[in-house]
Amino acid sequence: MGPFSAELLKGKVILITGGATGLGRAMAEKFLAVGANVAIASRNERVLERAAKEMSIEANDVYYKSCDVREPGQVFDLIDAVEKHYGHIDVLVNNAAGNFISPTHRLSTRAVDTILNIVLHGTFYTTLEVGKRWIEQRRAGTMLNIVTTYASTGSGYVVPSAAAKAGVLALTRSLAVEWAPYGIRQVAIAPGPFPTEGAWSRLSPTPELEQKLLGRVPLKRVGDKEELANLAAFLVSDYAAYMNGEVVTIDGGEWLQGAGQFNGLSEITEDQWDDLAKLTRKRTEQE
Ligand code: HXC
Ligand code: NAP
Repeated sequence: MGPFSAELLKGKVILITGGATGLGRAMAEKFLAVGANVAIASRNERVLERAAKEMSIEANDVYYKSCDVREPGQVFDLIDAVEKHYGHIDVLVNNAAGNFISPTHRLSTRAVDTILNIVLHGTFYTTLEVGKRWIEQRRAGTMLNIVTTYASTGSGYVVPSAAAKAGVLALTRSLAVEWAPYGIRQVAIAPGPFPTEGAWSRLSPTPELEQKLLGRVPLKRVGDKEELANLAAFLVSDYAAYMNGEVVTIDGGEWLQGAGQFNGLSEITEDQWDDLAKLTRKRTEQE
């Protein structure tokens, strides 16, 4: 339960794409622990079934349905099925994603399409289907999009993902304004490195690459899934009702480390600082 009461999300129906694994699963577990009814969806039905069964032992029943978010027909069927099962939907979490590291010039057009279709089109399809229904039903709701820090900065070697996540961030901010009059709220989370099997196997597959990733984080550690799940629970709860269009970064300071021009100076020792101080002070005195 962490910092929350068991009633934080009591009675809320939450659909999480990619909810059987990694960060999606951590959010599902947290939402269940604080009273929500949860539906999870992704491509692999076997993985969904196992996750739903395991989570149901501790909490309410967990609805699952396989869905490839790249297929509008499957998205329609999913939303229909969740509404039939629970009666309505209160929160949509767009968490499903695809990604891998590669120099951009090595990518085929099909590789580009694959990532854009899952991340940008998939998120747009679920958002559109749920949003249309909420507007028609005059129902308020919240959409939470899981992006990345490089949705804002861009990043080499994950360029289709960066372009797609930037699109999702634009979607978040655009609809925050357009759909607010309907009582529909948009929020996003930009996670830094959280070791999940899905991300690590594709983005950090060797100890050397993992070390590189870790070295960039000022707090010198990776994120704990529960930290992200707690943030998500707050953002979709009524306590965050005035947050709309915001993206919250949870990355141990990683992206700022890369951005600040002088942050590399953290490697300078105290003795070196003494020498440098002589030089920099002398300069000021000469002027
Ligand atoms: C270059 C690659 C590739 C790679 C696949 N392709 N992997 N190209 N390098 N490593 C190419 C294929 O050759 C093919 O193009 C095209 O991409 C589609 O590949 P398929 O395997 O047919 O696609 P599919 O089965 O649909 O699988 C999608 C996938 C896969 C994205 C490629 O990795 C997947 O299922 N991912 C889901 C989970 C995931 O990615 N989780 C990580 C999220 S982490 P050709 O032309 O050959 O046909 C994240 C942010 C992390 O998003 C930030 C970290 C700090
Ligand atoms: P993950 O476990 O691989 O999660 C991705 C999920 O998306 C899987 O459950 C996968 O299930 C589902 N998915 C993929 N393609 C799909 C499709 N076409 N249709 C429906 N579902 C699909 O990795 P994760 O690390 O937890 O990532 C979760 C989210 O966090 C993603 O949005 C990711 O970009 C973001 N993120 C993660 C990190 C990190 O460090 N872990 C950092 C920044 C952002 P199936 O394969 O069964 O479909």
